[in-house]
Amino acid sequence: MTDAPNSHVRDMRAVAPWWRDGVLYQIYPRSFRDSDADGVGDLRGIIDGLDYLQWLGVEGVWLSPIYRSPMADYGYDVSDHVDVDPIFGSVDDVDLLVTEAHRRGIGVLFDFVPNHTSIEHRWFQRSRRSRDDEHRDWYWWRDPKADGSPPNNWLSHFAGPAWTLDDATGQYYLHLFLPEQPDLNWANPEVVAAMHDVLRFWLRRGVDGFRIDVVHALAKDARLRDDPPHPQLDALVATLGEAAPRHLRVYSENRPEVHDLIRGIRSVLDEFGAIAVGEVYLLDIAELVRYLGPGDDQLHLAFNFPFLRSAWNAPAMRAVVERTEALFGRIAAWPTWTLSNHDHPRHASRYGAEAVKAAAMLVLSLRGTPFLYYGEELGMPDVNEAAGHDVMGRDPSRAPMRWDRSRRGGFTTAEPWLPLSPPSYNVADQAADPDSVLSFYRRLIAVRRREDALRVGSYEARPAPDDVFAWRRGDEIDVAVNMGGEPLDVGLEGTVIVATERHREGEVVGGRGTTLAPCEGIIVRR
Ligand code: GLC
Repeated sequence: MTDAPNSHVRDMRAVAPWWRDGVLYQIYPRSFRDSDADGVGDLRGIIDGLDYLQWLGVEGVWLSPIYRSPMADYGYDVSDHVDVDPIFGSVDDVDLLVTEAHRRGIGVLFDFVPNHTSIEHRWFQRSRRSRDDEHRDWYWWRDPKADGSPPNNWLSHFAGPAWTLDDATGQYYLHLFLPEQPDLNWANPEVVAAMHDVLRFWLRRGVDGFRIDVVHALAKDARLRDDPPHPQLDALVATLGEAAPRHLRVYSENRPEVHDLIRGIRSVLDEFGAIAVGEVYLLDIAELVRYLGPGDDQLHLAFNFPFLRSAWNAPAMRAVVERTEALFGRIAAWPTWTLSNHDHPRHASRYGAEAVKAAAMLVLSLRGTPFLYYGEELGMPDVNEAAGHDVMGRDPSRAPMRWDRSRRGGFTTAEPWLPLSPPSYNVADQAADPDSVLSFYRRLIAVRRREDALRVGSYEARPAPDDVFAWRRGDEIDVAVNMGGEPLDVGLEGTVIVATERHREGEVVGGRGTTLAPCEGIIVRR
């Protein structure tokens, strides 16, 4: 335990800071648990779910945004950073959540959305009023080109140009996401100071840190130069179609200036002993590590999107992990492992139901902090359609959590805001079944908590057949997962302490002849 003001009560056996040691769990607040019968999850619902999270063995939660918002991007468009949207509850509910979570040894991370605000934020309302407004320079306003077109070629991540012309003043404003999400100008020190105060507001209420939304985009090229076309565009269009990135975002994102902005945020967090995990959405791990070091003055953790986006394929996964280990190792940065979040199809759907236990073994047994996405511990798939209507966009991976098999899943007593998954993906039934996905997660997390080697031990890849990913943690633990389509001999020796096939737990395996079926994984103490 440290005495930093925000460190919550910890298990005394902990050998590393809680955010390195523990399992973290992402809650999408709309979809976790509804306490007030409006079909949308809320803070009181999350409080009701804390006993479950403690039972599961989770040591920290990250909540997607709960701030006041017109919900054009379900809360990633913030109209007041220091208030809670009434659909989720109140600031008093936050206080209660923090107290109740800490009482159970669970840390609380909020989602900090610094790159943009809602179009309805009072700062933007003022900024758009006139070219002379004192908030004008809080956002990016520029004149049209001579032909009336946008100031440069930057593109929105969602669709079309990153610029929208505002009739009130005849200038364009920048938005890397929706037109309802204008980008803040972090080159303006007033913006920096105001956003630092937002952090302090929640840190004073006991929040333990933040997940930081698109943190790599905070700084923009001061001259707003055009992004160059992607050199492999043709090949990318062939594989990704419309989703292919048209530009290399070298001027609109991942600017060298961003690192000092992050150091500024870090110094605020350090006042409170709080932490930051960055959504650094870059697919080059060599670029990712630049947000974590050298030196301990930027992000504590960052998501690993090459891993999240990897296919269920041992050579591909092993390559991402090896590269992460090599590059992170050089600067003593600590990895994270995540397979699902609110922006991507769930891995149960991408990899198939048969792979979910083996996938959990990866996330929970590699060296680094695992981030689970609510419902993955039930093997929950995407919900693409219900009663004949299609579920669109990113909604399939945001279906409500099922607490029981009743019609509304124990999630709500009203009509849920999105259709529920099939009844079997529910907490009550799976908690009672020792062979369920949920029981497997819980067992694996318990073993992880017990075994220092699994939490903080070194990582080393082990020789194995191509379709098997095998690695060693510390001196005493070996893990192997068969990601191929045939049974394979993995040659481990020792006693099985966790297995995707529960009947193998306790088995003594001896060298050659240790066979794993497809999607089977074992953890062995040598
Ligand atoms: C991040 C969030 C995503 C949101 C976007 C804009 O990528 O994860 O949900 O739409 O930022 O804030």
